[in-house]
Amino acid sequence: MAAMTPQPGIMDISLYQGGASHLAGVDNVLKLSSNENPLGPPPAAIEALTSAAKGMHLYPSTDHAALRTAIAEVWNVDADRVICGVGSDEVLQFVTQAFAGPGDEIIHTEHGFSMYPILANMAGATPVSVPERDRVVDVDAILNAVTDHTRIVLLTNPGNPTGTRLSDAELVRLADELPQRVILVIDGAYTEYAEGYDGGLALAEVRPNVLMTRTFSKIYGLGGLRVGWGYGPKDMIDVMTRIRQPFNLSTVALAAAEAAARDTKWVEDCAALNADQRARLTGALRQLGLACDDSDTNFVLARAASVPEADAAEAALNADGILVRRVGGYGFPEGLRITVGNAEQTGRVISALTEWRNAS
Ligand SMILES: Cc1ncc(COP(=O)(O)O)c(C=O)c1O
Repeated sequence: MAAMTPQPGIMDISLYQGGASHLAGVDNVLKLSSNENPLGPPPAAIEALTSAAKGMHLYPSTDHAALRTAIAEVWNVDADRVICGVGSDEVLQFVTQAFAGPGDEIIHTEHGFSMYPILANMAGATPVSVPERDRVVDVDAILNAVTDHTRIVLLTNPGNPTGTRLSDAELVRLADELPQRVILVIDGAYTEYAEGYDGGLALAEVRPNVLMTRTFSKIYGLGGLRVGWGYGPKDMIDVMTRIRQPFNLSTVALAAAEAAARDTKWVEDCAALNADQRARLTGALRQLGLACDDSDTNFVLARAASVPEADAAEAALNADGILVRRVGGYGFPEGLRITVGNAEQTGRVISALTEWRNAS
């Protein structure tokens, strides 16, 4: 039986729960549970993928040179300091696996992305959850939680599912006050939706212990292809590259991501649509008596007054074929995380909730 004993931490993992995509008996389900792009993938990415498919009998590149070059050109960064993964999830896995193990601690905040404790346990390290303050990351709480065993701080900015953002000044203060032996990972999955925010790029550019992670799954509309990237100091990236599988990204995924990266107009248009509909949805939710913070992402966290009220709101949405995300696992049992859709989809959400309020 000894051979069957899993590595430390593995049995502490609770499986990740993705957003639901089906509703029994409903055909035209509106999925607003996983923060996907309502406009779908950029046409340029579909074209690139279709063309690359003809070469799918050949192994893909191992060094992702073309995609890293595109990223370097678009974001004005050093291609040698970019690492690409199967979603940003895999980049987060590289850093946790490469730099933490049994006996080490990985800090995340109480409402941080739910993959963080999973990744810490996968590495055999101990996840340490620290409180936020009014649904915003609390830099002092993070700093107070640092011990001699702390190796990594995983920070979602802007947050998921809160949608709130730590100010640039606070982000710099966190980087300044963390010991340099601790890696600060700034997970910028929703950066493009936060006006004027660089996702932590400027910090990752100059600090020896800061890694920024980004994804093609959200505004770039490629969630199903699984491509993300990280940017950090060269020596950190070199370590992570050693544990990256040589063919982790497929030919078609690489081609689509490269085309998407270069389609900056697409990103601008999607961000503009999101900003309009997010303001509309936020205003409507508040009017309907569902509290929500201003969001810097492509979703809004609506907080009902109680769990039964949240259940009822969700049931009303489901009855109209709309799926949203309950976020009890993130510490918000009375919360509904609603992805911002296009104008028609947002209208559908507002109508369903208005009818529900009028009926109750
Ligand atoms: C905060 C955050 N980080 C990372 C990810 C992972 O995204 P992906 O692996 O698709 O890049 C997500 C996805 O929902 C997220 O919300």
